[in-house]
Amino acid sequence: MDAPACHTDIIDFGKGQPSLSLLPVAAWRTAADHCLAHGDARLLQYGVDEGDEGFRESLAQFLSRRYAMPVATTELVVSAGASQALDLVCTRFTRAGDIIFVEEPTYFLALDIFRDHGLQVVGIPIDEEGIRIDALQDALVHHRPAFLYTIPSFQNPSGTTMSAARREQLIAASRMHDLLVVADEVYQLLDFGTVPPAPLATHVHTARVLSLGSFSKICAPGLRLGWIQGAPDVLHTITQSGVVQSGGGLSPFVSGVMRSLIDLGLADAVLDGLRRVYAERSAVLCRAMRELLPAVTFVEPTGGYFVWAQLPAERSASQFLSVARAGGVAFHPGTRFSSGGGFARHMRLSFAHYDAPELVEGVRRLAHALAG
Ligand SMILES: Cc1ncc(COP(=O)(O)O)c(C=O)c1O
Repeated sequence: MDAPACHTDIIDFGKGQPSLSLLPVAAWRTAADHCLAHGDARLLQYGVDEGDEGFRESLAQFLSRRYAMPVATTELVVSAGASQALDLVCTRFTRAGDIIFVEEPTYFLALDIFRDHGLQVVGIPIDEEGIRIDALQDALVHHRPAFLYTIPSFQNPSGTTMSAARREQLIAASRMHDLLVVADEVYQLLDFGTVPPAPLATHVHTARVLSLGSFSKICAPGLRLGWIQGAPDVLHTITQSGVVQSGGGLSPFVSGVMRSLIDLGLADAVLDGLRRVYAERSAVLCRAMRELLPAVTFVEPTGGYFVWAQLPAERSASQFLSVARAGGVAFHPGTRFSSGGGFARHMRLSFAHYDAPELVEGVRRLAHALAG
């Protein structure tokens, strides 16, 4: 257990990352030994555009098992994480000035990637079932977006999971309007026992869907390793990128070690361990919030990293953040997740980075700051 927090140590609920105690150094040592024991120097060479074949085979087996659906090696291209994949998608499927659709709210750093590419972002509201199809249809009357970016399961920041019905309606809209759907599915496997509907990756052959996956949330963010799942022609557009071509594919060495981690059964063990810990941490945070912050409203998440909480009427989360910081606690204010300055009363609290006593202490500090 980490040292107990004191006021000189700010408890930052903004940190959407695992605590160091959850990063599997021992498992990686085993995997690296296993991988290097083969003495295959190709790991240290430039690779092929779509990424190491053996790794993609192991990944396809891992995903087929964990998604409970068949995933073929040919549907997968290796990325250096979902952020890098999203950047590649922007490079290959958009031009500066294009419009794209995002969920409102959405992942704030994705908004920064879209800004880097000079894209114009139009927000589509979500409700408790995910993206609102009526609002999407309205927006499609006025705009022809280069793509729609969605986080279907355990969304960042809202924790919302798109219902099966909405997924079907979204795919129908994608087919009708030839709309490219970029599904960021990095939390898909991080449920706390209630499995979400099948990933949008199920539709890569029947609609224009690209699914982005990553080992950041289910293993370790420092790997910078992920994948893009799509139909071969769409993946071909991606692998023709200058970065992929010049670099000889992405991350061959880490892919090789990850292959061993999967083949040895350690990736499953790591993922299931994280799901267990995050379920406990989420429950601790929510219990403390119900007890100590009764005026703050939220829906308890069933997976992922985040609680999306709303302050009482008339309270601004940005102003509250200054008071909270002085009291030794921080969070990300809701406006950071909006393409249009919305969600002024919302706070995103991550439970991934702290253990139970720290989570409770952080909520105590929030309660103190709110009362002050
Ligand atoms: C929705 C979403 N996409 C992507 C990322 C970043 O993924 P990666 O580390 O694979 O680049 C995050 C991390 O917080 C996220 O929440």
